[in-house]
Amino acid sequence: MNFLKLLKKPNLIAAHRGDRSQKPENTLSALASSIGKCDFIEIDVQLTKDLVPVIIHDDTLGRTSDVSKIGRFEDRTPWRVSDFTLEELQSLDFGSWFNHEYEPILTLKKALSFAKEQHLFLNVEIKDMSSTFADEIVVQIIIDMIKKMQAGHLVLLSSFYHHYLPMCKKLSSEIPTAALQIYKHPSKLIDYLHTLQVNAYHPEDKITNKKTVASLREAGFFVNVFTVNKAKRQKKLFDWGVNGIFTDFLA
Ligand code: G3P
Ligand code: MG
Repeated sequence: MNFLKLLKKPNLIAAHRGDRSQKPENTLSALASSIGKCDFIEIDVQLTKDLVPVIIHDDTLGRTSDVSKIGRFEDRTPWRVSDFTLEELQSLDFGSWFNHEYEPILTLKKALSFAKEQHLFLNVEIKDMSSTFADEIVVQIIIDMIKKMQAGHLVLLSSFYHHYLPMCKKLSSEIPTAALQIYKHPSKLIDYLHTLQVNAYHPEDKITNKKTVASLREAGFFVNVFTVNKAKRQKKLFDWGVNGIFTDFLA
């Protein structure tokens, strides 16, 4: 099966940053913990200073690592991910902030090899790197890695920075893509999504309504909504025809 076929199944549950209510978000243990509890796993990817795709949500390291306790990094505030090499990130602990257990940084390469081994589907969210040196190359590097790992069939690429999405399609017409959106739908939404050449739309729950879902589904776009933690709301969205929801709490 590939990701597009998966999207045709009803009522999909996506593990937001892995099983993040049980394990430190975006780590291998968060991926492992979500096995058997969801249909696909969402992870956030950005590049290190030496251009390695790593799995971390925030632009900075403070919240999800022990960087603030490491003397040699004292003068590197605000500890931007893109200012650190992979080797430096590998010296940090990405688990103890959450449950006092060490976790290394997860690379995209490792996440993809784990997904292949365990037959997992991954929604790889490409973080907005437009304010960094990596803006021009981030998409190419991520897609090269997915191709190298022969994992294209297991991946859905998404981004809030919509400029990346046609680039994804250009580099790999096979891998499905999704536009993420917060606050407000773009005007002429359906036309806009056609110009981005995406397969899916990922709006935040707050801006999602029955009419918009119906028109998106009618136009052939898959709709996956984030972040929906309440069962009652999940059911309502599925009743409206939403394909999937992202949640922090897996049953
Ligand atoms: O991809 C869905 C969701 O992860 C988008 O928001 O900020 O949690 O990456 P964020
Ligand atoms: Mg995300």
